Amino acid sequence: MAKKGFSFIGLLLTVAMSGFMLAGCGSTPSANDSKEIKIGGNFELTGGVANFGKMTTNGIQLAFKEANASGGVLGKQIKLILADNKSEPSEATNAITKLITQDKVPLVMGPVASSNVLATLQVSQDNKIPVITATGTNSKITVDNGKVRPYAFRSCFIDPFQGTVMANFASKSLKAKTAVIYIDNSSDYSKGLAESFEAQFVKNGGVVVGKEAFLQKDQDFKSTLTKIKVMNADTIFIPAYYEEVGKIAKQARELGITIPLIGTDGWDDPKVVEVAGAEAMNNTFFSNHYSSQDTDPRIVKFVEAYKKEYGQEPNALAALGYDAGLMVIDAIKRANSTEPDKIRDALEKTKDLQVVTGVITLDANHDPVKSGVVIEMKDGKQTFKEKINP
Ligand code: PHE
Repeated sequence: MAKKGFSFIGLLLTVAMSGFMLAGCGSTPSANDSKEIKIGGNFELTGGVANFGKMTTNGIQLAFKEANASGGVLGKQIKLILADNKSEPSEATNAITKLITQDKVPLVMGPVASSNVLATLQVSQDNKIPVITATGTNSKITVDNGKVRPYAFRSCFIDPFQGTVMANFASKSLKAKTAVIYIDNSSDYSKGLAESFEAQFVKNGGVVVGKEAFLQKDQDFKSTLTKIKVMNADTIFIPAYYEEVGKIAKQARELGITIPLIGTDGWDDPKVVEVAGAEAMNNTFFSNHYSSQDTDPRIVKFVEAYKKEYGQEPNALAALGYDAGLMVIDAIKRANSTEPDKIRDALEKTKDLQVVTGVITLDANHDPVKSGVVIEMKDGKQTFKEKINP
């Protein structure tokens, strides 16, 4: 009996394996020989920062829709194949693996959050499939221990720029002499920003009087905030994402902390105001990639098109998603191919590409050098405070 059972399993295995091998031989190197160009999208569609994934993919879809309506890319329709990384690094690794092995995409866009992007780069490298993040600002995404990652690209500025912008804003505009840094210890983005903010703030003559940390999904920040309150600093720098930022701002104001709270692009979601309340968000400022109130004609045109498509104001993620979509289209056109390596080579040569959030020319590290803005929250609304050139 036992022997028979084994051979039956053996037979099943043989059948399964030959089926696998056949599928392997029969499939062409890319899935893009049909009338479509399939591009992978590894995004935070559920979980902690699901709003980020939603806004970024909205932007990409709009860029693809416009390209398809005006004849497509290399005469084909370009299509985003989405995989949900549930806002978790391990799921981001699974999502890119699926997009590459099952959907056979020649390029993967996303994720949004730096820690999730970082979790996909080994798979990208092993399979020689380029990854482009529209939004991941941590410097390690493109450069690993001083070496440029050949398959990693981005279409946004990097955190050393953003951290510097906010340190200068604290010193010059807020005239802050002392600051507390309050970071999300589960995020590479937050940790990187703390370093670049501190370096510049100290260079400006400022003193960091305290460093505190929390973890994503924390709910109660009051004991740490009580500690921070007695430090009597001029400002608190909180480089984090909207869910936690909303809760921190609310609880800080409840404890009577009235000083300016400052942060970075991860604050850019209406949820911050929903959670904190408009009043608590007064006297807060954050760096961002663009402002929808900017009167630059490219921005005005994009904001109109986006509102028409989705019935809401595009935040920076939507604009960055749109721009990354344009960057992918541009690279495929110049490559005149959907071969991953040819797209990679073309991406590397991205130059003078006019997009909504600026002009993209990639430097030797695969990073664009772009301007940023500082946003002030006033009665629940984002107001454009200043534009900062690199
Ligand atoms: N820069 C953030 C990160 O690297 C993602 C982000 C970009 C969030 C733009 C909001 C707006 O994790």
